Amino acid sequence: MNIHDFQKMKDEGRKISMVTCYDYSSARAVAESNIDCILVGDSLAMTMHGYPTTLSATTAMMALHTAAVAKGAPTKFIVADLPFLSYRKGLKDAMDAVHELMSAGAHAVKLEGVRGHAEIVRHIVDSGVPVMGHLGLTPQSVHGLGGMKVQARTNAALKALTSQARELEDAGCFAIVLECVPPQGARTVADLLKIPTIGIGAGPHVSGQVLVYQDMLGLNPGFKPKFLRVYANTFEVIRTALNAFDNDVKSGAFPSESESYRDFESPDQKVTKRSEHAAKNGRGSRITLASDMNH
Ligand code: KIV
Repeated sequence: MNIHDFQKMKDEGRKISMVTCYDYSSARAVAESNIDCILVGDSLAMTMHGYPTTLSATTAMMALHTAAVAKGAPTKFIVADLPFLSYRKGLKDAMDAVHELMSAGAHAVKLEGVRGHAEIVRHIVDSGVPVMGHLGLTPQSVHGLGGMKVQARTNAALKALTSQARELEDAGCFAIVLECVPPQGARTVADLLKIPTIGIGAGPHVSGQVLVYQDMLGLNPGFKPKFLRVYANTFEVIRTALNAFDNDVKSGAFPSESESYRDFESPDQKVTKRSEHAAKNGRGSRITLASDMNH
């Protein structure tokens, strides 16, 4: 996947799938899936750090999570969010943030809105960094919007949304996320633009869909917005597994003999000697150690 594939998929009427991802082990699962691309969203401030809004995400946080995801999913296209105000303090600060995220392993950055920073978007794009826009409900403006509300519900608001979408396309964005926009409004924007639109709570008439990993996997049980489809009840699966472990520990059922190492004096010594030899001869000990741990 690269930015041309996004355009190609829209042009050919093929839908784009995107999920958020914030850590190495989740990224490994996404890497093994058919999902087209990953968003290291600033929603990580909430899902991974427990803050009430995305406003607490920092560039350092975004870079750390992006680096972990890049290691877990080295073959996926990764978009990283520029966090709250990082692109509103002038060009130098914006470019420093972009530099940090791209150095961490992102292939593109995403930012919210356009009013007052179209020139910065243009400069980032002209610097060779693909930019994904984000319109509709823009969570970094939660207080300015008066809460997490569905957007573009009047003709005037839809008109403003379409003109912002056009501005982002003109500034060089390769795609735009539309969040919490009713389907007909989202369709108006999608049909107006050449570039793809990726919806979350924006109905079916857009070029692709994005969901937050924790939400779609049922790891956030209290969160039930209308647009969300939960594909697995992972919270319950984890809780059941944890309780099974707790039971086994307390009853003495874990560990069993087959889950315990044999005594040092046993014929297993051969394996230990082999690993000592490998370590002495300067070969990487990690693989040897890992294989020793299996016997
Ligand atoms: O941060 C995020 O998770 C996002 C998605 C909701 C699109 O921006």
